[in-house]
Amino acid sequence: MNTEIIKIDPNNIDVSLIDRAAETIRRGGLVVFPTETVYGLGANTFDPKAVAKVYGAKNRPADNPLISHICSLDQVEELARDVPDMAWKLAERFWGGPLTMILKRRETVPDIVSAGLDTVSIRFPSHSVAYELIGRSGVPIAAPSANLSGSPSPTAARHAIDDMNGRVDVIIDGGDSLIGVESTVVDMTCGVPTVLRPGAVTAEDIASVTGRCVYGGDYANAPKCPGMKYTHYSPRAEVWAVTDMSKAPKDENSVIITYGGGGFDRPAYNAGDTVKDYAAKLFYFLRRADEDGFGTVYARLPEEKGIGIAVRNRLLKAAGGKIL
Ligand code: TXA
Ligand code: MG
Repeated sequence: MNTEIIKIDPNNIDVSLIDRAAETIRRGGLVVFPTETVYGLGANTFDPKAVAKVYGAKNRPADNPLISHICSLDQVEELARDVPDMAWKLAERFWGGPLTMILKRRETVPDIVSAGLDTVSIRFPSHSVAYELIGRSGVPIAAPSANLSGSPSPTAARHAIDDMNGRVDVIIDGGDSLIGVESTVVDMTCGVPTVLRPGAVTAEDIASVTGRCVYGGDYANAPKCPGMKYTHYSPRAEVWAVTDMSKAPKDENSVIITYGGGGFDRPAYNAGDTVKDYAAKLFYFLRRADEDGFGTVYARLPEEKGIGIAVRNRLLKAAGGKIL
């Protein structure tokens, strides 16, 4: 397939370019687009044939449901029914932004979007390009992260292109994703809001609106969020999560990923000053390690608070649980 790559400045959007991509969505094609979390691989939610192509393009297992992306609250009820008050409150507080809510599915949503579950997941991104693309398409856009299944999610256009060139109709290059880890997935169908995948919006943030919110048991393996059971986020290099960098062996051909400064007498990628900077760059550097030919990555395991909860979750998966 011939893939068209379109560069769009998120701060100065050329709507004629967005319209080309929106037209592709409407006629059943696939469009890779930037969001504030990671790049998405999108198709019209209401077109089951187009959604089937999404699964094909990234070799995604058929039992792993997709998130529908919207750009207006009116679209919630096209997708979901019996939406609880708490969900509207969360929408008001956190949309557009990195929060995905699982709600009861309307029967008009094709089975393939929800992988046969009776729920639907909905997200309203804050990214200007995503917002315009959804709006101009006129339909919700079902989109997983734009990586081949198992690889780290792309947070730079170049990485989305590496995985998706030749597999989709259009790739929109809208610069780097600012957040860098995928959205928080919260199940709103089970009484107490339950986080199935941690992200930039924490359970504490959600509880500040709803009163209560819990992490779903062992959320790293929560069977309710089918995607969490697959091997994830792994580069070719062997990854270790490291609590104390002085423990990381100085073997040849290895690189450190860290944040918060410090001098290194060995190859190192420094993401910036804070754990937020680290979240923004972790997936980027996992892919960079492969590009630069490193065989082993030692990545700092951050503290379990704030966005650090999400970063730990992704890093431990990339590392297959290996901690130093
Ligand atoms: O930030 C994000 O959420 C990105 C951008 C593109 O929006 N999207 C993303 O999609 O990360 P994906 O497909 O890579 O991850 C969605 C996760 C998967 O683990 C999936 O199993 C879960 O959400 N999920 C989706 N719909 C669900 C549902 N109805 N019930 C339970 N889990 C669901
Ligand atoms: Mg994904």
